[in-house]
Amino acid sequence: MTDTALLDKAKVRQSFAAAADGYDASAGLQRRVGETLLAKFPCAGLAQPVLDIGCGTGFLSRHLASRTPAAVALDIAVPMLQAAQRNCAGLPLAYVCADAERLPFRNDSIGQIYSNLAVQWCEDLSALLGDCRRVLCVDGRLVLSTFGPRTLAELKAAWSQVDEFAHVNQFYSTDQIGQFLAAAGWRRFELETELITQSYPSVMALMRELKGIGAHNVSTYRNPRPTSRAALQSMIAHYESAMAGGEIVASYEIIYLRAMR
Ligand SMILES: C[S@@+](CC[C@H](N)C(=O)[O-])C[C@H]1O[C@@H](n2cnc3c(N)ncnc32)[C@H](O)[C@@H]1O
Repeated sequence: MTDTALLDKAKVRQSFAAAADGYDASAGLQRRVGETLLAKFPCAGLAQPVLDIGCGTGFLSRHLASRTPAAVALDIAVPMLQAAQRNCAGLPLAYVCADAERLPFRNDSIGQIYSNLAVQWCEDLSALLGDCRRVLCVDGRLVLSTFGPRTLAELKAAWSQVDEFAHVNQFYSTDQIGQFLAAAGWRRFELETELITQSYPSVMALMRELKGIGAHNVSTYRNPRPTSRAALQSMIAHYESAMAGGEIVASYEIIYLRAMR
C-alpha cells in the first residue's frame, strides 16, 4: 500500500450517513473493540477537552463525556452526529461535523484524542497523525484503534478466486503506522495487535453486518460496475468451501495505538 489510501471520500460520507439509523444494531465488533480500547487506555480527567474522531453514534463519546468536563464528538456524516446527540443527551458534549483530515481546531488546544475504528476511512493517515499532534497540548495523548491488513482475509481470498478487483478496503500494518508516526514527529508511542475471529451463519450474514455499519468497499480499485449475481454466488461458494462445518468465520486484525505528544 502506498502512503495514501486510494478511497472515495464522498462515498465514505454517503455510506455512513445512510447507515446511521441502523448502525447500533450491527456494531457489536465496534463496541467490543471500543471497550477494549478504554480498558487498555482509560480516559484521564483533564481540564482540556477530549476529542472523539469519527464518533459515529457516540459509543465512545458518551463514555468520554461522562469522565471529562469538556468533550467534542467529530464526524464527517451529519446523520451519525444526530444519532450521537440522541445517545448522549444531557452530557457536556460539543458536536462538530468535519473531515478528520482537516481538524478545525487551534494548535495546542486539545488534551486527549480518542478514535475507535474510524481512521481507516481516511485517505492520508500520515497527514492525519501530524494534524492530531498539531492540535494536542504538550503532553497530550492520542489513543486509537484501527484495522490491520489481516482484516477480512477470508473474504478477500474468496473474491480473489472470482476477479481481480479490490473488494475489501486496504489497511495499514503496525510497521507502516509506526513509520507514519515517526514521520509526523511522534517519538513516544506503542502499537499492539489483536486478532478477533467472528463466526457467522452464512457469508450473506457477514455482508449484511458490513452493510449495516456502513462499511462499503470504497477502494478506487473496486469494480466500477455493480457486482453480478453470478460473481457473488461464486465468491460465496469459494468462501464456504474453505470452511468446515455449517458456519463461516471472518478475521479482524485490530491495531491499538497510544502516542504521547
Ligand atoms: C465504523 S464507524 C465507528 C464509529 C464509532 N467510533 C464507534 O466506535 O462506533 C466510522 C465512523 O467514522 C466516520 N468517518 C469516516 N471518515 C471520516 C473522516 N474523514 N472524518 C470524520 N469522520 C469520518 C464515519 O462517518 C463513521 O461514523
